[in-house]
Amino acid sequence: MGTSRMFRIFVFLGSAFMILLIIIYWDDVGASHLYLHTPVSPGPKIPHPPHHQQSHTSRTPSFLSDIDAFVNQFLEPGTGEPTDPAPADTSNQSEKAEERYVPRREWKIHLTPVAAELRERQEQRRRLLQEMCANDSVVFPGKNRSFDDIPNRELDHLIVDDRHGIIYCYVPKVACSNWKRIMIVLSESLLRDGVPQRDPLAIPRDLVHNSSMHFTFNKFWKRYGKFAKHLMKVKLKKYTKFIFVRDPFVRLISAYRNKFQLRNEDFYRRFAQVMLRRYGNQPTPPASVDEAFGVGIHPSFSNFIQYLLDPQTEKEMPFNEHWRQVYRLCHPCQIQYDFVGHLETAEDDAEHLLRQLRVDNVVEFPTSHRNLTASSWEADWFSTVPVEARRELYKLYEPDFRLFGYDRPDSILNE
Ligand SMILES: *[C@@H]1O[C@H](CO)[C@@H](O)[C@H](O)[C@H]1NC(C)=O
Ligand SMILES: *[C@@H]1O[C@H](CO)[C@@H](O)[C@H](O)[C@H]1NC(C)=O
Ligand SMILES: *[C@@H]1O[C@H](CO)[C@@H](O)[C@H](O)[C@H]1NC(C)=O
Ligand SMILES: *[C@@H]1O[C@H](CO)[C@@H](O)[C@H](O)[C@H]1NC(C)=O
Ligand SMILES: *[C@@H]1O[C@H](CO)[C@@H](O)[C@H](O)[C@H]1NC(C)=O
Repeated sequence: MGTSRMFRIFVFLGSAFMILLIIIYWDDVGASHLYLHTPVSPGPKIPHPPHHQQSHTSRTPSFLSDIDAFVNQFLEPGTGEPTDPAPADTSNQSEKAEERYVPRREWKIHLTPVAAELRERQEQRRRLLQEMCANDSVVFPGKNRSFDDIPNRELDHLIVDDRHGIIYCYVPKVACSNWKRIMIVLSESLLRDGVPQRDPLAIPRDLVHNSSMHFTFNKFWKRYGKFAKHLMKVKLKKYTKFIFVRDPFVRLISAYRNKFQLRNEDFYRRFAQVMLRRYGNQPTPPASVDEAFGVGIHPSFSNFIQYLLDPQTEKEMPFNEHWRQVYRLCHPCQIQYDFVGHLETAEDDAEHLLRQLRVDNVVEFPTSHRNLTASSWEADWFSTVPVEARRELYKLYEPDFRLFGYDRPDSILNE
């Protein structure tokens, strides 16, 4: 009896020791590989500050905290990337740099909690996403694949901010310029006179959409090599992920107005000419957008819808991001978004979100004074589109309608 008991204790202690060894060893191996593979970044990037502690989240210990330590190790300055070019011995210089880059940690004190109605709204939107992803009657390409199976090029809309632990999936035509501006302010990567730019609206428009301003998931491969996917998953677990969406048909109207009713040389050459040739009785469309506008030629909204429904279109290349479905841009069944904003409730949602991210002391969401495309115009816009085409279009965008809780637009589909 005694020997068997001793034996069991022995085996138990032995296994515990082995597990400990494996954990320590794995960490070492992981870290040393990472240092080897982390390229010395040349650009004007700013060193990462000590990683923002999310003390309010106490997640499962052991394995996860191991990963946390592993990630924090190279998010901290001096390990992964080179820090300031200034020599370290001139102490007041490095002090100054420290002061400049220390993230603001003080949080705004609110006397009132976030309205219960807003919290309930988020709860509902998140629950709806989960239900729709679990519901087999909602079918769309790529729904069943795992995060690992998503190709790198399809991760180019996820902007990461390590300073504050935020991931934003941008959807063009859904206030994305404003949210990109906010991400630039938060990243503190745009300096003006040596201090980070703090006013979102002061950022020039061409910079806002310049991809070199944003650290997106698809850039992880270049920086982290084979650890990229692992690192993405860790960040997806730890960071707050948000997305903004709007009614899919209204988004299409907005895309059409913005890209084809205004003079846009790039979109004219890449898309409008194709539409005019194929559906607009223009075998040789005008060579430039100015010429075309000069003689009053541009594709109609109906031509635009024909283009979207034409099987030939996606054979040539995937939909442009301005009309690509949100489920293809942001992978809502693989990424569990913590916050789902709607453009229709943008102001409330923005305030709620910035509070939830604890950055409402740093930035404010810029209020828009532009004429937004209104849902009430939908019937007018679609009056020129045959009912059959409207129904086909609905099928094309149905997953977006269902995932994000937009009602089927019965009034324009049943005629
Ligand atoms: C460093 O400190 C000295 C005096 O302590 C000062 O003269 C010098 O301007 C400082 N340099 C910088 C870059 O602040
Ligand atoms: C799945 O969606 C269908 C509608 O397409 C609905 O009737 C059904 O109740 C949903 N199933 C679940 C489990 O929610
Ligand atoms: C996803 O899996 C479900 C069963 O779990 C299946 O019914 C459905 O057809 C699959 N969808 C796709 C797009 O492969
Ligand atoms: C984006 O910015 C980089 C440097 O900041 C610049 O070299 C590049 O030309 C810009 N791209 C566009 C399309 O403006
Ligand atoms: C906004 O739209 C309304 C009517 O649709 C129009 O009267 C007004 O001039 C527009 N304002 C701007 C700034 O375009």
